[in-house]
Amino acid sequence: EKAEIGLIGLGVMGSNLALNIAEKGHRIAVFNRTTARPHEFAAEAGPLSDMIVPCDSIEALAEAIQPPRPVIIMTQAGKPVDEQIALLRGVLSENDIVIDAGNANFHDTMRRFHELEGTGLTFIGMGVSGGEEGARHGPSIMVGGTEDSYKRIEKVLLDISAKYQDEPCAAWLGPNGAGHFVKTVHNGIEYADMQMIAEIYGALRDGLGMAPKEIGKIFAGWNEGRLNSYLIEITAAVLAADDEKTGKPIVEVILDRAGQKGTGKWSVIEAQTLGVPATAIEAAVAARVLSSLKDERLAAEDVYGARPAGGFGGDREKLLADLELALFAGKIAAYAQGFAVMDAASREFSWNIPLPMVAKIWRAGCIIRSQFLGTLAEAFSAGKVANLLMAPAFVTMMREAHPALRRIVAQAAEAGLPVPALSSALAYFDSYRQGRGTSNLIQAQRDFFGAHGFERIDEPGAHHGPWGL
Ligand code: 6PG
Repeated sequence: EKAEIGLIGLGVMGSNLALNIAEKGHRIAVFNRTTARPHEFAAEAGPLSDMIVPCDSIEALAEAIQPPRPVIIMTQAGKPVDEQIALLRGVLSENDIVIDAGNANFHDTMRRFHELEGTGLTFIGMGVSGGEEGARHGPSIMVGGTEDSYKRIEKVLLDISAKYQDEPCAAWLGPNGAGHFVKTVHNGIEYADMQMIAEIYGALRDGLGMAPKEIGKIFAGWNEGRLNSYLIEITAAVLAADDEKTGKPIVEVILDRAGQKGTGKWSVIEAQTLGVPATAIEAAVAARVLSSLKDERLAAEDVYGARPAGGFGGDREKLLADLELALFAGKIAAYAQGFAVMDAASREFSWNIPLPMVAKIWRAGCIIRSQFLGTLAEAFSAGKVANLLMAPAFVTMMREAHPALRRIVAQAAEAGLPVPALSSALAYFDSYRQGRGTSNLIQAQRDFFGAHGFERIDEPGAHHGPWGL
């Protein structure tokens, strides 16, 4: 019996995705560059072995699948994907579908889509979120490509995706680069979420002098409320864990230098190119970069002196309540930015991304899954707004939350504790809701030194100031 689908790349993500597909009753042919791996993999799959067809070559892979063939590539992003596509072009035929399920840069996806146009093959760029567990038991799946090619693999994708109260977290989001773009912004938001959580952890650790386990309990408590989310849940679990070697809390032995593979940076680059402010995401990316300058930071601490411990005062219960609400306010601003970026890209590339659907398929399976996304999906379904901050449900929440964000950012500034993502979120909100800003002065300066002209509040057209030019 022929396989229904194929997969190339049996790393952790690829293996887990293949097992997930097999488990849902879809026979799958698998191939890997190191040829022994497919057989090992099939042998180790236990009862699922019957549903897995190990292939020794790319030709064997093509032979094993029932045409028209869908083939998923799950390798490292970048060059390896182009290499696999080149190999597939040699063995696939009319109407077959090549699916890149990695964290591709959407510009590459657009290019690959166009490169395959006219060859008879079609290309799908598919964002998959949820880490290893998600790939195995139900990820969130963001698809870009022709609707027709999506329809042909829809059944498999709906079957393997996470479910939110029975609703599958997989959807077609638009042509060519749409799926990978949405995945990139998902990761940008993920960076902002993680950074803001880390900033609140910093306030609890350094501003209030609390120990990891104590902080973990606070996050666990918050996870029962409006902040309920996978990232808060794992933060509580991380803070509760001890290092096996030293017996100390694991967070205390982990070096404070964050890695990154590029998706956060890409979302910021695209936001800038589209002219959409995504300051909380930018701050999160910059914070990772700054964290990597460990030696410089140690040298600077010597020069300027370490900040004195503590610094967060007042009623403890009130402070904890403020920290929770500040994190929530920051989250609202970060999501408002992320969705504004997707909205702008959707218009720029004529993708027509269904934003309510994006919120829906992020409710389960993906790394940023949360109760909040349920609220967001409902708010979007209620009608289109210029910015999430203007959706009635969010106006109510932000009115309640922004004063707490303000108090926390102010206390952090006084205490010398960096909260870059939270403070950018606050500045974004304050700028967004300020009817009369200060750019009149920028315009005057531009006109003064470059005769760029400005608009007047009382008369149309371009004007110049009395600079004696
Ligand atoms: C997901 C994750 C996943 C991964 C990213 C982020 O949605 O499953 O976002 O894609 O964690 O690669 O990685 P970095 O933090 O290394 O950039």
